[in-house]
Amino acid sequence: MGREGSSIFSAFVHLSLLRFLFVTAAQARKLEEVLCSSTCGEIRNISYPFRLKGDPSGCGDPDYELSCQNNKTILEFHSGIYYVKRISYTEQIIRVVDVNLASGTCSLPNKPLSHNDDRNDPRYYGRIDTKMETASFMNCSRNIKETGYRLVPCLSNNQSYVYVRTGSFSISMLPESCLSISVVPILDGNETFPSYDTIRGLLKSGFDLGWSLECRNCFADGGSYCLPSSQKPYNYLCVKAPGNAA
Ligand SMILES: *[C@@H]1O[C@H](CO)[C@@H](O)[C@H](O)[C@H]1NC(C)=O
Ligand SMILES: *[C@@H]1O[C@H](CO)[C@@H](O)[C@H](O)[C@H]1NC(C)=O
Ligand SMILES: *[C@@H]1O[C@H](CO)[C@@H](O)[C@H](O)[C@H]1NC(C)=O
Ligand SMILES: *[C@@H]1O[C@H](CO)[C@@H](O)[C@H](O)[C@H]1NC(C)=O
Ligand SMILES: *[C@@H]1O[C@H](CO)[C@@H](O)[C@H](O)[C@H]1NC(C)=O
Repeated sequence: MGREGSSIFSAFVHLSLLRFLFVTAAQARKLEEVLCSSTCGEIRNISYPFRLKGDPSGCGDPDYELSCQNNKTILEFHSGIYYVKRISYTEQIIRVVDVNLASGTCSLPNKPLSHNDDRNDPRYYGRIDTKMETASFMNCSRNIKETGYRLVPCLSNNQSYVYVRTGSFSISMLPESCLSISVVPILDGNETFPSYDTIRGLLKSGFDLGWSLECRNCFADGGSYCLPSSQKPYNYLCVKAPGNAA
């Protein structure tokens, strides 16, 4: 291309750039989805609001940054490290699994996580899945006979007995001579008192975090809580404390 050609070309580029800069927010969002779709291992479609560390700065939202290590998509959440198993943009759900539990071997979670942690996080505040359960781990100085407590064999010996149980559990239910050592959310199992092998499978399946930009923005904007609708498609009502100027 000659000198003249190239300056005409660059004027054209400038014009297109200007046009590009004047698109509406909705168009920009669409463009972003097309231009910023990253892949990491099995997760083929990492797009808005998610971004992958290293993506161009306009891609996704910094509050929803993932990283890619050895073809594994990683979410760092409340100082825990989770592998991403799936992202559903229609359901606004990201399914993650604690790194220690992802292979399904006998282990404690890398990091305890309670449902309060995600409900107190404006980024993942939105969807309260009532079917979410937990697996609670405890370390006991004696053998526990109560129903539903399953020995974690790799962590137990003659002096200490580590148990895990699923379902609702509160500290007040902790048997005497036991200390609570970890808790993680799990997807709803179909059994009331699953065996340890079944629990390992449940732990390996991970759990869902629902994300909501509406709620993230609601709290950033001084909201005091964010009410999700009970049914799909989820809508969110941002509630501001009285007297708090909108
Ligand atoms: C990641 O996957 C790609 C394509 O499947 C492969 O070429 C590459 O070697 C993998 N990298 C690692 C670190 O496993
Ligand atoms: C990826 O996700 C975006 C945002 O939801 C969607 O518009 C696009 O169609 C998806 N692409 C693929 C290949 O699934
Ligand atoms: C359980 O408690 C015993 C006694 O305090 C301790 O030696 C052991 O390391 C604990 N096990 C776990 C998995 O925390
Ligand atoms: C633990 O129990 C086994 C048999 O149940 C026994 O052989 C072993 O000596 C015990 N170890 C300790 C440290 O008590
Ligand atoms: C629970 O679900 C698993 C897998 O979906 C199935 O194999 C198993 O038979 C079910 N168990 C019961 C008690 O329904």
